[in-house]
Amino acid sequence: MTNEASTTGEARHGPSPSPPPAVRFVEPAVGVHEILDRLEREDALAMPALTGEYRGWLLEEACAVRFREARPVVGRGDRLVRQRMGVYDDFGPASRFHDLTGHYQAIWDGWLASMGSCPFESRFVFNDRMLQVYEPGETGITPHMDRTAYRNLICLFVLEGRGRFGICQDRSGRGMRIIAHEPGDVVLTRAPGFRGSDHRPFHFLDRITERRYVFGLRHERRAGR
Ligand SMILES: [Fe+2]
Repeated sequence: MTNEASTTGEARHGPSPSPPPAVRFVEPAVGVHEILDRLEREDALAMPALTGEYRGWLLEEACAVRFREARPVVGRGDRLVRQRMGVYDDFGPASRFHDLTGHYQAIWDGWLASMGSCPFESRFVFNDRMLQVYEPGETGITPHMDRTAYRNLICLFVLEGRGRFGICQDRSGRGMRIIAHEPGDVVLTRAPGFRGSDHRPFHFLDRITERRYVFGLRHERRAGR
């Protein structure tokens, strides 16, 4: 990861300070058991998550950061993945995305505490955060599996823009199933460690018709965790 010699983060690039809205999240229409059961069957799902005010507050910062271009090709041969996106993970201490991380972590902590048994292999913690921007007409990202180091569940908050996210069976896109979603939704995708499985679903993003900002929260397995 490239750090652009920044230790000030938001102070340098971000919007002027303003407090978060009082209501951050919309009430989910389904309970955590149903969310997990659907993920087991369908690999990924989208559900409304951010209120309009909170999405706008986060988007102000997303629009102000300086993205760097991700490598356009990852892997080689029959494992080649093409992608076109800007990435940013240099969140300063005042970043609004710490607010989102902390509050969404608290939601999951509450859900997991309410369950009789834990669906994950380890204590679920969002220790990896990443903003991505996709430009209209660009590749998006071709079918791939995420790294095995990402565990349990991957959460992508769609802050703005349109694109087609889908699950498929292989790198050719066979058996693709589109996960319809809107700005403000969180797209959840299962990862290894989910209900005792090592399954890593193939997924892709294409047909980007409006500049798309996405904030991803992941649980990365690290030494000692
Ligand atoms: Fe991915």
